[in-house]
Amino acid sequence: MNVKDRTIKDFGEQWLRYSDNRGYYGSLDLFSDILFPFLKIEDLRHCKIAEVGSGTGRIVNMLLGSGVQHVWAIEPSESFSVLLQNIRDPERVTCLKIPGEQLPGYGNLDYIFSIGVLHHIPDPKPVVEAAFNALRHGGQFLVWLYGKEGNKLYLTLITPLRTLTKYLPHFVLAILVWMIYYPFLMYIQLCRWLPLPLRSYLLHVYKKMSPEKRRLIIYDQLNPAYAKYYTKAEAMKLLLDGGFINVRAHHRHGYSWTVIGTKSGSSTERQ
Ligand SMILES: C[S@@+](CC[C@H](N)C(=O)[O-])C[C@H]1O[C@@H](n2cnc3c(N)ncnc32)[C@H](O)[C@@H]1O
Repeated sequence: MNVKDRTIKDFGEQWLRYSDNRGYYGSLDLFSDILFPFLKIEDLRHCKIAEVGSGTGRIVNMLLGSGVQHVWAIEPSESFSVLLQNIRDPERVTCLKIPGEQLPGYGNLDYIFSIGVLHHIPDPKPVVEAAFNALRHGGQFLVWLYGKEGNKLYLTLITPLRTLTKYLPHFVLAILVWMIYYPFLMYIQLCRWLPLPLRSYLLHVYKKMSPEKRRLIIYDQLNPAYAKYYTKAEAMKLLLDGGFINVRAHHRHGYSWTVIGTKSGSSTERQ
């Protein structure tokens, strides 16, 4: 099995085990933080939106809670069944069990989101091109990616660890996550007083999660077969090479990149 398919399989198994999106992890507060500074929740009202890589439907439900008109949820893994179960308002959602590059070229969507997905795809270019074709002129593609800048220490630790953990069976990985969890909590305490790496993310996002979700986030870092950490230049090039204009990047909490680009045309044009 190639690394792309192995990654999809890893996520299928992960989300069948960790299927719930309760608390801050699935909240509109967190969604606002993800969209900042490019979009506000109110901008999405009555819009037609696709989400590429929907997992358990966490972002899909955030979109429904934002008052969107319709969501196209794209998820290729076995977690598709979880997605179907979790969706709050199925009449406003079309779920497609396909990889991102097969997103149909609707040509009339207002926004496409891909949150925490493209960095798990070895060749994301066809996905970006499919997103471009599915948008209306003036529509926008917003992606959130792991960042290289601001993660130097983290990457020094996690890169060698991941060479092992991506092969571990679930129960061994789950034990390892518990072993990392308590020292990590102590690190977060230190972040309150010291300007340590990941400080902003840990204090403003991670700390607001329940203990269960905090452990899931550690698991999610260690489990998938493929994960790439993008520089700002690489993140912007991804959208620029896909034909997007007005591409902008925000260094979210100093450790990741939120990138947005527009499909050329009038931003007021709707089909
Ligand atoms: C880290 S999860 C993010 C899920 C969701 N966006 C969220 O934030 O809760 C990454 C998701 O991308 C999906 N994925 C992996 N490869 C993909 C591909 N080629 N096309 C679309 N989705 C893919 C995985 O199956 C997984 O559900």
